[in-house]
Amino acid sequence: MKEDITWIEVGRVADIPPAGARVVKTKHGDVAVFRTADDDVFAVRDRCPHAGGPLSQGIVHGARVTCPLHNWVIDLASGEATGPDEGCAGTFPVQVEDGLIRLGLRLGQLAAAS
Ligand code: FES
Repeated sequence: MKEDITWIEVGRVADIPPAGARVVKTKHGDVAVFRTADDDVFAVRDRCPHAGGPLSQGIVHGARVTCPLHNWVIDLASGEATGPDEGCAGTFPVQVEDGLIRLGLRLGQLAAAS
């Protein structure tokens, strides 16, 4: 079955500080777009699976972010909580081309997540 993905431009990698994030508002909720210290880019729903903390305001280390509220550590590639904690923030596909970031919004995923 063909996935129904809409790609939107959300800015340049250079617009996000290394080990930082920016929030992209969609009508289905906020998405945190992270840039790691190695310039990898990930997009994760900006709601911690524990109690909804803003992951975009967490500390990025490697390809993980520590939630600012209660320190759960979320894997940026999978959106999954690590260690003994369980839960998934949900991820979104990203494309980077010539430094430009495109965020893929899966309509079915967004509808299910809202
Ligand atoms: S809301 Fe993120 S660890 Fe509690």
